[in-house]
Amino acid sequence: MNLVQPRLGRFGFGADYNPEQWPEDVWPEDIELMKRAGVSMVTLGIFSWANVEPRPGEYDFGWFDRAMDLLAGADIGVCLATMTASPPPWLARLHPGTLPERADGTVLWPGARQHFCPSSPAYREHAGRLVRQLVTRYREHPALALWHIGNEYGCHVPMCYCATSAEAFRTWLNERYGSVEALNEAWSTAFWSQRYSDFAEVFPPRTAPTFPNPAQQLDFRRFSSDALLECFLMEKEIIRELTPAVPVTTNFVGAWHRVDNAAWAGHQDVISYDSYPDPHDEHSHIEAAFTYDLMRSLGGGKPWLLLEQAPSAVNWRPRNAAKAPGQMRLWSHQAVARGADAVMFFQWRQSQGGAERFHSAMVSHGGADNRVFREVAELGAELAGLGGVLGSGMEAETALLMDWPNGWALESNAHPVADLTLREANLSHYRPLWEAGVSADVVPPSADLSRYRLLVVPNLYLVETEVAERLVEYVRGGGQLVMSFFSGIVDGCDRVHLGGYPAPFRELLGLTVEEFCPLPEGGTIGLSGGSGTIWSEWINTEGAEVLQTFAEGELAGRPAVTRHRFGDGVAYYLGTRPDPASMAAILAMACEAAGVEPALPGAPAGVEATVRHSADGTRWLFLLNHNDFELTVRTPSGEVPLAARDVHISPATS
Ligand code: GAL
Repeated sequence: MNLVQPRLGRFGFGADYNPEQWPEDVWPEDIELMKRAGVSMVTLGIFSWANVEPRPGEYDFGWFDRAMDLLAGADIGVCLATMTASPPPWLARLHPGTLPERADGTVLWPGARQHFCPSSPAYREHAGRLVRQLVTRYREHPALALWHIGNEYGCHVPMCYCATSAEAFRTWLNERYGSVEALNEAWSTAFWSQRYSDFAEVFPPRTAPTFPNPAQQLDFRRFSSDALLECFLMEKEIIRELTPAVPVTTNFVGAWHRVDNAAWAGHQDVISYDSYPDPHDEHSHIEAAFTYDLMRSLGGGKPWLLLEQAPSAVNWRPRNAAKAPGQMRLWSHQAVARGADAVMFFQWRQSQGGAERFHSAMVSHGGADNRVFREVAELGAELAGLGGVLGSGMEAETALLMDWPNGWALESNAHPVADLTLREANLSHYRPLWEAGVSADVVPPSADLSRYRLLVVPNLYLVETEVAERLVEYVRGGGQLVMSFFSGIVDGCDRVHLGGYPAPFRELLGLTVEEFCPLPEGGTIGLSGGSGTIWSEWINTEGAEVLQTFAEGELAGRPAVTRHRFGDGVAYYLGTRPDPASMAAILAMACEAAGVEPALPGAPAGVEATVRHSADGTRWLFLLNHNDFELTVRTPSGEVPLAARDVHISPATS
């Protein structure tokens, strides 16, 4: 049970509601249509700052009161945004220093949104003042279900390089390292004459003649995530002081880069996430599944909220596909199948003007008499009937390890390959698990690993010694681990672990890597059981058993995929990126050895099967047919026919 349910008591179903974009005489129709659609909650006020505080310190909450009251009267809960994601134009005029800067010094001007430097004292002060007004005003309001701080922190501006940020970065570094000598040591500044004699000499990694110092880049990512987190915490503190019982969240965006979601997760009362899979991408539902598993895991397995998705097309890709009939329902249930207790959209009513006028909405430019509205209304009714699922969790015996600092460092420059990405690394390991129907958590290195039979570690380039030791202990204690190349290479300051690659895992894996041999762009290399891409390397075994060898070129006959029994467990190592079929075969072997079973053995290809477990012992089986043809699925309680893109949800008591 997450903290929202006691207040809402039902599935969260609704959208971002922006009533300020419409004359007030449209609002009663909004409410009427919301009831028809089964809306239980809306997110209100995300971009309302300029409308409730048109001039500094001058508030106009009248219209907002009326919107809140209308919603309360209709028994619709409000996920109340703190409005600080897009400062009003007067803030930039009054305090130009609140505007963020890119690495090359470009100022990001007002006129879009998120144009604030997180370290700006003026931004924080004005944001804090607004939040205090807002929370004081609505803390007792019957519609209030949940606080929504900011919006998608770091989505457009994950890092600000301005003078204020530079000063804050110095303070952050001083706190982290304590002395400039320690900073020099951590950043390897003996290299290229970068030695500092004072913190005042340090800058953010602004555009430089060539590669900036890798440790400087990495620390700047950490600092930037922390600076945004400070903004979040500043607001949260005000909310906690005034409404200690109302849960707080911020909507995470994308999994890959911006802020360290794992570091932020512990500060959320409930995890929430915005999901925009591309209907033009035939694998986008697999990436969506990965991010849903990540969100569930970030909340320690508790239900999370899908706070935004598109009813049909978005407007920000080069080509914006409409969702096919049934696809919105299928993808909504996919989130529920992986632990969501809310299915919300961006946005309620399609904007007439502004940058998002061609983004779909629950109510389109043409009104509500159309397919999109009919489908969302049907979904609303369906979710209202699924109350038994609320609060239930999922059990996974497999976990995939994901770490943001590792991702930042992995994608840093001046590496053996320039285009190895965290996304590709994770999805190439996750996809075969998804296709095999194996449920997985996606956990940070700090998670309790002992609950998992199998741990998959894609390209853990950066690893602190204590994390490496935890992985070694995990296997020694009986765990099965699959690790890919270019893991265990550097420490938390992006300095190479000496003693032969991958030094912290050499004993665990029973091998050492003598030399990296990346493949040409788009190139492949034959393996004894398939082919590899991106990478090859010169492996010398030191006790590991060779499962596959490279089959061509200078490495022909040398180890490519190995297995090492270590303690009571087993560690597999992949010295290349095997093609999808080979990857699937290797992971299937590891799953079998670990005793990991799919959620529904024998489910047809393209059918996603998951189980949510209620506290009362009910098992909710979700079957999702991602194929555009009908088929039949065999389950323990009989055959289930599924139309194209159809969903079947059935409770069973175990
Ligand atoms: C999200 C954002 C929303 C809206 C949406 C459009 O990133 O939070 O405000 O812009 O994208 O897809």
